[in-house]
Amino acid sequence: MHELDHYIYPHRVLHWLVALGVLFSLASGLTLGFLGFERAVALIGETLTNALYTAHKTLGITLLLLMTLRIITRLAFVVPDHDPPLNTFERLVSTSVHHLLYLALVVMPMLGALATATGGFPVQFFYWTLPSVVGENKALSETLFLWHERVGWLLIVLITLHVIGALYHWWIKRDNVMKRMSLFD
Ligand code: HEM
Ligand code: HEM
Repeated sequence: MHELDHYIYPHRVLHWLVALGVLFSLASGLTLGFLGFERAVALIGETLTNALYTAHKTLGITLLLLMTLRIITRLAFVVPDHDPPLNTFERLVSTSVHHLLYLALVVMPMLGALATATGGFPVQFFYWTLPSVVGENKALSETLFLWHERVGWLLIVLITLHVIGALYHWWIKRDNVMKRMSLFD
């Protein structure tokens, strides 16, 4: 046992930055996926459409960098003990959802970047276009975009479960779970 009752501060900051970033990337991604390039151009013009694609790609790659840092802060530092301890069901569900969230958040930007590159489109990060590590392959690009969409829906399901769990601990059980990730107490 140790006295720590929070994740270390940088890990908590990363949690909330990623949470905010994921919401924006899901919103921008779903808008682009739902409309497609042509309808987006008809609706908001070419300049804004291109800006939306660039913003989505930039945000996605930033999230991959943040997740890399986060995996380091998760593995390198002590994880606080639950006080009071979680029951077996809570431990099983929360651990599974957390691991799947980590996996989905690393896989998602990789799928997006690979789908984009194999489709022959630029992988943009702010003002830069990242060098392509794969050749053009339209059929592969379509499959990767399909998986980008599927993992996107999986992410929405996982986040919903996760937030329901967090609110249950915060408002109903009133235990210390929320405090572990809080920036303020
Ligand atoms: C955690 C990071 C990311 C999340 C949560 C995310 C989420 C999404 C979602 C939900 C869609 C809509 C899928 C559909 O309905 O077809 C989408 C579309 C798209 N994403 Fe991402 N994405 C991420 C990262 C990236 C990255 C890094 C790139 C490229 C560098 C990228 C490129 C695209 C493109 C081009 C589309 C439009 C696909 C289409 O028109 O069908 N995404 N994204
Ligand atoms: C929206 C995207 C979100 C993602 C991707 C996400 C992801 C995660 C992950 C992977 C963990 C496991 C701990 C770790 O970082 O190693 C975690 C912990 C936690 N999250 Fe989130 N989270 C999100 C949003 C939220 C929201 C909105 C809340 C509050 C309503 C919340 C509250 C918590 C709490 C309290 C913990 C600590 C749980 C524990 O230590 O057992 N999260 N989150």
